[in-house]
Amino acid sequence: MQIPPKLLEILRNAKRVAVLTGAGISADSGIPTFRDAQHGLWSRFRPEDLANAAAFERDPKLVWGWYEWRRRAIAGAAPNPAHAALVTMEHRFPSFMLITQNVDGLHAAAGSRSMVELHGNIMRNKCFAENIVVENGIADSHDPEAPPTCPHCGAFLRPDVVWFGESLPEAAMLAADKAARECEVFFAIGTSAAVMPAAHFPRIALESGAVLIEINRDTTPLSGAAHAVLRGPAALVLPHLLKSTWPGH
Ligand code: APR
Repeated sequence: MQIPPKLLEILRNAKRVAVLTGAGISADSGIPTFRDAQHGLWSRFRPEDLANAAAFERDPKLVWGWYEWRRRAIAGAAPNPAHAALVTMEHRFPSFMLITQNVDGLHAAAGSRSMVELHGNIMRNKCFAENIVVENGIADSHDPEAPPTCPHCGAFLRPDVVWFGESLPEAAMLAADKAARECEVFFAIGTSAAVMPAAHFPRIALESGAVLIEINRDTTPLSGAAHAVLRGPAALVLPHLLKSTWPGH
C-alpha cells in the first residue's frame, strides 16, 4: 500500500496524537467484532439484547454465561501487530492518548499505558447492587453457571463493562474529549463509528482542526470526512504506516 507523502510528512512533524480503536483492531487477534455474526450457541442473540441491566436482572445466568463465553475467547487471544504499533506510537509522539471502546484488555496486555477504556474491561467484575469493583466473588457451589455473589452484600457480580443504556465512566469521557480537542492527528482504527458517544470523538477532533486518518477493513460513516483512509486489516496497515513514516526504526 502506497502511503501519500503528505501524510508521512504530517506524521513526522506531529506532536499530539489521539487514537480511537474499536473491535476491528482485535479481529486480527481472533476476537469476533460486534457487527460480525455471533457464533454458535449465541448466534440467536444480538449483543444489545444481552449487554443490558434488564436482561441481567431477567436472566442473570444467561447474561453471565455469554460473558464467560467471551472471556474464554479472549483468554486465548494475544495482542496483534496493530496493538504493538500503538505502543510504539505512544513512545514516539510527545503527546499520545489511546481511546478504546474494546473491553478485551488487549491494549493493556500489549503495553499501552496512556489509554482510556470507554466501555470498561470484561476481565473485571463489579457488584450489581453497589457498582464497586470486586476481585473475588463467592461462587455458588450448587449452581456453577450462576454469577458469583458480592462478599459485601450478597448481590450478583456483573462484568465491569458499560451496558447499553448506561453512562460511560466520566473520567474516561473527559480524558477522551480533551485528547480529541487538543490533538493534531486523530486515528479512527477498526471502529464502525456507529455507537455514540464514542463515535463523537473523531468528529470533535475534525472540528478542532485535527487531521483525521481512518484505518478500517470497510467503509464507515467516517470515511467520507477523513483526510486519509487506509483500507485494510489494521494488523497489516498500521505497522506498514509506521515503517513508511520512520524507515529503519
Ligand atoms: N482491521 C480493521 N478494521 C476491521 C477489521 C480489521 N482486521 N475487521 C473488522 N474491521 C472493522 C469493521 O469493518 C467495522 O467497521 O472494524 C469495525 C468493527 O465495528 P463494530 O463491530 O461495530 O465494533 P465497534 O466499532 O468497536 O463497536 C462500537 O458498539 O456494540 C457496541 O459497545 C460495543 O464497543 C462496541 C461499540
